[in-house]
Amino acid sequence: MKKVSVASLLKKKQDGQKFATLTAYDASFAKLFDDCGIDLILIGDSLGMVLQGESSTLPVTVEQVAYHTRCVASSTERTMVVADMPFMSYATPEQSYENAAALMRAGANMVKMEGGEWLCETIQGLVERGVPVCGHLGLTPQSVNVFGGFKIQGRGDAAARQLINSAMELEKAGIQLLVLECIPAPLAKRVARSLTIPVIGIGAGKDTDGQILVMQDMLGITAGYVPSFSKNYLEVTGNIREAVKLYIDEVEQGLFPAAEQSFDE
Ligand code: KIV
Ligand code: NA
Repeated sequence: MKKVSVASLLKKKQDGQKFATLTAYDASFAKLFDDCGIDLILIGDSLGMVLQGESSTLPVTVEQVAYHTRCVASSTERTMVVADMPFMSYATPEQSYENAAALMRAGANMVKMEGGEWLCETIQGLVERGVPVCGHLGLTPQSVNVFGGFKIQGRGDAAARQLINSAMELEKAGIQLLVLECIPAPLAKRVARSLTIPVIGIGAGKDTDGQILVMQDMLGITAGYVPSFSKNYLEVTGNIREAVKLYIDEVEQGLFPAAEQSFDE
């Protein structure tokens, strides 16, 4: 089985083929998602909220993400494995090297970090040292205290322009994937069209190259707040495997997210 790579995701973008991705944190779900054809699994620091019951992602540590990355990586074959760099684990380039190394040794194929221009030196340094990087812009949950809550980002001309600039600077610095979270659909479309690299959306409308959901949200089993941009696929299908397959189908056909799971400008 040929492993999904940055090259195969780039080819999908160039061919106009949408792709579906999910978070996972353990071997059983990761293997099921891999078998169903999920192209990328993110060990998100969302694990702080959906596994640990915390009210934000800030308490999550590198050791915890590394542990769950090992659980996912050991059971998957085809899917690409991306691990989140948790809060303050990439505050300086040197910290990012040490912490990214721990996640790559645990089995990640790429690391993801939240932020704009200030990350460019870190990204360049990581890529030069053999660590592929995924960017993350928009509602970056590690900055929830700066935003004053989990709020849509990128609304208004100035904020939109700023986000597009950040995306282009991150691409120049060397990111090979970009996640856009909770921004107006038209803005996400502009970013996806402006960049060569694949752009993965969550709460960012249907016009990004790929989609990602937190697995507990798409199965409708999240304890606590469920974001409005998610969809409960288990309710529709009554079966986890069929739920994942329907999610993949709907993403590939451009049916998910629909307008009701998207935000306007
Ligand atoms: O932590 C996470 O699960 C994420 C995704 C929602 C993109 O960062
Ligand atoms: Na995250």
